[in-house]
Order: sequence, then C-alpha cells, then structure tokens
Amino acid sequence: MPDTPRTRRTQVGIIGAGPAGLLLAHLLSLAGIESVVVENRSREYCEARQRAGLLEAGTVELLRAVGVGQRMDAEGIEHDGIYLQFQGERRHLNFRELTGGRWVTIYAQTEIVKDLIARRLADGAEIEFSVSGTAVSDLTSDRPVLSYTDSSGAAHEVVCDVIAGCDGFHGVSRPLIPEISVYDRAYPYAWLGILADAAPSTDELIYSRHPDGFALYSMRSHTVSRLYLQVPPDEPVENWPDDRIWAELNKRLAVNDGGWSVAEGRITDKSVTAMRSFVAGPMRHGRLFLAGDAGHIVPPTGAKGLNLAFSDVVLLANALRAALTDKDWDLADGYSDTCLDRVWRNTHFSWWMTSMLHVNNEADAFDQRLMESQLQYVMGSTAAARSLAENYAGYKPVRYEL
Ligand code: FAD
Ligand code: DHB
Repeated sequence: MPDTPRTRRTQVGIIGAGPAGLLLAHLLSLAGIESVVVENRSREYCEARQRAGLLEAGTVELLRAVGVGQRMDAEGIEHDGIYLQFQGERRHLNFRELTGGRWVTIYAQTEIVKDLIARRLADGAEIEFSVSGTAVSDLTSDRPVLSYTDSSGAAHEVVCDVIAGCDGFHGVSRPLIPEISVYDRAYPYAWLGILADAAPSTDELIYSRHPDGFALYSMRSHTVSRLYLQVPPDEPVENWPDDRIWAELNKRLAVNDGGWSVAEGRITDKSVTAMRSFVAGPMRHGRLFLAGDAGHIVPPTGAKGLNLAFSDVVLLANALRAALTDKDWDLADGYSDTCLDRVWRNTHFSWWMTSMLHVNNEADAFDQRLMESQLQYVMGSTAAARSLAENYAGYKPVRYEL
C-alpha cells in the first residue's frame, strides 16, 4: 500500500532549483513570503550544469541589490562591449558610449546557482533536491497542491497559495495550462561549445560570421575560455576531436592582418546545443505562474535566456508580494502580458542576432546577402550599432521593489 503523503503548508510552491526558482525563493523571502523549492536533480548536478555566462547590467544591479552579488563583484569581469567580425574585419561596439553607460558582465550561471543555493541554505530555507514524481493539482482553487516523492521515497503534499513553474523547458508546469498557445522556430544549425583551460586572447567577446559558419569567443574568467562553433543540427560531438575544434576556431576567428590567434588549452567540457525560439502563453493558469525557460526559449546568440528568466522572476516576485501580502491581485493579473511583451522583444533580438551571424544553408543566396548586408550595416553605422547595444546590454530593465 502506498504511504500516506506527509502534508505541510507554505505560501509559494516553487518547481525547479535553476536560476529562476532559486532567485524567486530568495526575493520572496526578502519580502517575508515563505516558499518550498523542489528539484528533481541533485545539488551537485544543478551547480555544475554549463550554460549561460553573460549578465546584462540590470541583472548585475539586481543581484547586488538583493545581497547575492559579493562573489560576482569579486570574480565577475565587466565588459564595455563586444566585437563583431565579418570578412576578417573586427569592429568593437562600445556599449557604454552607445547606451550612455550600460555594460555587461561575465559571470557564469554555475556560479550564480551556487551563490543562490548557499544563500538560501544560510537563511534556513528548504530546497528538496533529487525529488521524483512532481505533480500539481487544484490549480483553479485558492489552495493548489504541490506533490512529490523525496529522495528517501517518502511522499509529500505541500498546500500552497500559489505555485511557480520554474522547471525549465522540459518541466511539468507548462503542459498544465490548457489554454496555452505556442510559437516555435527551429534553426537549421546548432552550437558546439567548449570550455578550455586557456587565458582568453581577447579582452571582450568576439562574434564572427565566416563562410564556414559562426564562431563566438567568450570566457568564464581570466584563465578559462568558452568558445562556440556553428555546426549542423544533431551533430555528434565525436565528429569534433580537439585538433579539429582549434583549427576551425582559428580559421573562423582569424583577422585579415594576421598576427592574432585563439589561445589553446586543455578542453574540459564539450557539448552540442540545439537552437530554438519558443514562446508559450499565457504564462498563468489559475494559481500557477510560469517563469523562465518553462515559458520561453531563445537561441543563445545575444545571451538573453538567463537575463530574461530573471526579469520574469522580478515581475513575479513583485506580483506575488502584492497578492499575498496586500491582497492586491492586479499585478498578478497583468503578469503574463507584462512578461510576454519583454519576451517577444528578446525573442526578436535573439532571432535577429542569430540570423545575421549564422550561415543558413537552407536560405537562398538573396537572403544570405541580406544578412551579410545587415551585419555590415551594424558594424558601420552608429545608429544601427546603438540599437544592438541597447538590446544586448538590456532594454528596459525591470525593477525589484525592495
Ligand atoms: P533551468 O535552468 O532549465 O532550470 C529549471 C530547473 O527545473 C532545473 O534545475 C530542472 O532540473 C528542474 N526541473 C525540471 N523538471 C522538474 C520537475 N518535474 N520537478 C522538479 N524540478 C524540475 N542562456 C544564455 O543566456 N547564454 C548561454 O550561453 C546559454 N546556454 C545554454 C545552454 C544550454 C544547453 C541550455 C539548455 C540553455 C542555455 N542558456 C543560455 C539558457 C539559460 O541557461 C536558461 O535560460 C536558464 O537556465 C533559465 O533558467 P530557468 O531557471 O528558467 O531554467
Ligand atoms: C555566452 C553565450 C552566448 O550565447 C553569448 O551570446 C555570449 C556569451 C557564454 O556562454 O559566455
């Protein structure tokens, strides 16, 4: 006979201990709102998952303002802008000048997740890692229930006021919204990403369009490089031995006057990521609210995914504080529309950066020339560069009401 579930009460049940779920739990606790976070992976897995690395200025300011920015301030690297490259010509776009002071910071998602978990645990919070069977019921009542089985096999039910689906693209939350509409675009290419123990031979990120495909030079620290190559979709990673990767990076990132090369080192991580745009809405059904990748995915060019997830979370934290503390549900009622406006701006920007910088073998020569012309325009025109800079460094940052 199955065990009777252990039942307890909280205000907000949060599914997922990725960046979105962890930041939401922290913001709610600052507002005096209790939550329980359940996560189906182990703490070690969550802390090691290689993903984003670039923060908008607004994200940096947010993490600082809410007391989880100490290590980011010590170890993060501020960049004034990025380099764009085409036909071996490299141009610097200075975001501080173009946007009146905005910048971006290199600080890995793995480190943000570690910082948030450490802070939650130091504050005495509950994060249930390695759970299974996460399920949600009674979403249209005012007491939705979050149920799961913990790592020892014990069944739990948490009676909540609200449930936050922060469970990423493959989570259980989004399918629970019956009226959902989905907008989806798959791209005919993927990214091969590597981490290497090599001091970057560039001070800021380089985005390069080359006839063989896109290449991106990024970094995690002064001693660790993060590099990406456009590859065919579903490319087996085995097709890319280390020597081939370095040769291709050096070719696609080479500048015309020579004398510059990619600093090589031991490759410590190698993976292929599919490219997709996906928007689902509404991001709310009854007492269930989606935030982050649970509701939308952007292709990585332009580094919007994590920043967008954090914007959702700030809007959700503001809305839940008004709803649960002041019994004012207006912000909660507007949550989905407010988020989706921002999501679509970022979806357009990520699609635009992606299309401009990648070689699309399915597009005809006319479309390819248009994308090349667009890139040359951004590299040559201050007005066009300013638009890229405004979006890249973060358009209309959201504010957390401290
Ligand atoms: P996630 O990080 O996906 O977190 C969701 C959490 O929910 C996970 O921990 C998951 O284990 C958990 N979960 C799922 N289902 C359940 C369940 N049923 N029960 C309990 N827990 C559950 N963005 C960038 O800006 N730049 C990049 O370079 C970049 N690279 C990426 C590479 C990859 C391979 C991927 C997948 C994404 C990348 N992104 C990048 C996007 C960025 O990492 C995401 O936007 C960000 O992780 C979103 O955070 P999140 O908390 O919404 O979702
Ligand atoms: C990184 C990833 C991106 O997609 C991007 O546009 C910039 C940086 C990164 O992983 O560092």
